[in-house]
Amino acid sequence: MTNESGFKRTLVTSALPYANGYIHLGHIAGAYLPADIYVRYKRLRGDRVLYVGGSDEYGVPITLTALKEGVSPREVIDRYHAANEEAFRRLGISYDIYGRTSWDLHIDTTQSFFLRLLDGGYIHQEEMELWYSPQSDKYLPDRYVKGTCPKCGYEDANGDECERCGAQYAAKDLVQPRANIPGDTSTPILRKSRHWFLDLPKFADRLRAWLDGHPEWRTNVKGIAYGWVNDLRPRCITRDTDWGVPIPVDAPDAASKRIYVWFDAPIGYVTNTRQWGVDRLGDPHAWELWWKDSATRMIHFIGKDNIPFHAVIFPAMLMGQGDYILADHVVGNEYLNIFNRQTGQAEKGSKSRGNMISVKWAVEHLPLDAIRYYLCAIAPESKDSSFDWDDLMFRYNGELCDVVGNFVHRSLTMTVKNFDGAVPPAKALDAEDSTMLAAIPEQVDAIAESLENFRFRQALERLIDLGRKANVYFDAKQPWVTRKTDTARTGTTLHVCCQVVKALCHAMAPFLPDGAHALAEIIGTALPEGGPDGGPDGWNAAKEALPAGSPLQTPQVLFPKLDKDRITELAEMHERGEAF
Ligand code: MF3
Ligand code: ZN
Repeated sequence: MTNESGFKRTLVTSALPYANGYIHLGHIAGAYLPADIYVRYKRLRGDRVLYVGGSDEYGVPITLTALKEGVSPREVIDRYHAANEEAFRRLGISYDIYGRTSWDLHIDTTQSFFLRLLDGGYIHQEEMELWYSPQSDKYLPDRYVKGTCPKCGYEDANGDECERCGAQYAAKDLVQPRANIPGDTSTPILRKSRHWFLDLPKFADRLRAWLDGHPEWRTNVKGIAYGWVNDLRPRCITRDTDWGVPIPVDAPDAASKRIYVWFDAPIGYVTNTRQWGVDRLGDPHAWELWWKDSATRMIHFIGKDNIPFHAVIFPAMLMGQGDYILADHVVGNEYLNIFNRQTGQAEKGSKSRGNMISVKWAVEHLPLDAIRYYLCAIAPESKDSSFDWDDLMFRYNGELCDVVGNFVHRSLTMTVKNFDGAVPPAKALDAEDSTMLAAIPEQVDAIAESLENFRFRQALERLIDLGRKANVYFDAKQPWVTRKTDTARTGTTLHVCCQVVKALCHAMAPFLPDGAHALAEIIGTALPEGGPDGGPDGWNAAKEALPAGSPLQTPQVLFPKLDKDRITELAEMHERGEAF
């Protein structure tokens, strides 16, 4: 069942990573590579698609990093924004824009969201008791305060939730609070502060109706979203800090506060779309088509910790604006763990364990398509999965290289050698030829169906399946034997093989851009770039013939195999914590 219901354009977003650290492979496997594959597929089909991403640059994650590194927040965001933008580019994550929430334009977008909600009666003020450090003369929002969990006694619990037992509590219930500020040894005290709250309960019915309209979403997303909707409370959307978007009201207590990062961050998708319209089209209104026209289909790709924000809070904020569309799909992914070769166990990727692999390091040490192939093959779609060096080698070498790469290579080499560097004509087709040819559209459509339904692993398996079928065909036809006695037969076989090669080339393009482009050059087929205005259909072109007589270049190896010793070396670097 494909999911094409009359939309004219597709807006795809990937979660905006905090600009306080390097993006790593765990991020990529969840919220970025699947989104990029989807976007590349849509572009290839000629659909109008816009892919928006960027850095999340406000909030405690940034100021805490700055504090610990002894630099300014500005320095932190400039460094990591540039590094992450570059890392995404090198991994072929093909954003139409990679924006920044520190842009001036973002103040305007965020404040206008805030004011509309205020006007609509969806924002009110409440007084609350918050931890405050006498020594630093500062309130201690979010991760600035740590202490003992009132439920389970865990001593490194956060100000409002415990990572160990999952309990959520009011700040004042935290036991033995301490300031999470280097050098601050004072005992925090409770102090009153007036804040602004988003009245989520007012959206309950609309949120429920919207969720009810999407039974096709993944269970993890629906479970979390309904859990929230069934228990909505007003949510504080401001903080005592100076790092964030100013609160656009003229109140004495507004000046020392800023809008909470989780309020402004998803609005970053809107800001970045606005900026894209200005940069690319010189049109400050271009973004409205992507956010306010009901013929636009919006899809968010995120990790599971972001589900409440994209499936409840941001949609409520959009509802409160009155004229925005809501997401048609929220693709929430589980986590990518790291397999530890010493213990034989998968473990969570974490900075303190030093077991993470940055994109920056990965693209310097592995071929792009090997990274993309493996991360898609193990994408944590419905449960956590884990990154394992041996598995990477076995799957990439054994599936992509041995099945697809090998088929393409032997087909093209034999054709170029025996038929003057051009696709030979097909003479009489036998049953095997016809079955092979019939498998092309079937398999291409099956891949499309998987992609339309956000089943990226399945889509990739179906691509490899086409390669498997083709190898079986090739082996059965034995062109290396028939070549000595029967040119017409050999030509027919290789003609059929060239058709499969072409189909593979188009169908692999969303997953493996390097390999696909190299192959497209060799066989002389066009892989249209597409974009926000749409373009020719290069996806269904997979099913169109590569005519007899089409020139072929001498093939090169598309997917060079990974060497076992090299992989061991990389795994050892990783074990030494050098992969970050
Ligand atoms: N920066 C957040 C994180 O890393 C994600 C923000 S997604 C957005 O978890 F929607 F808010 F942009
Ligand atoms: Zn606890």
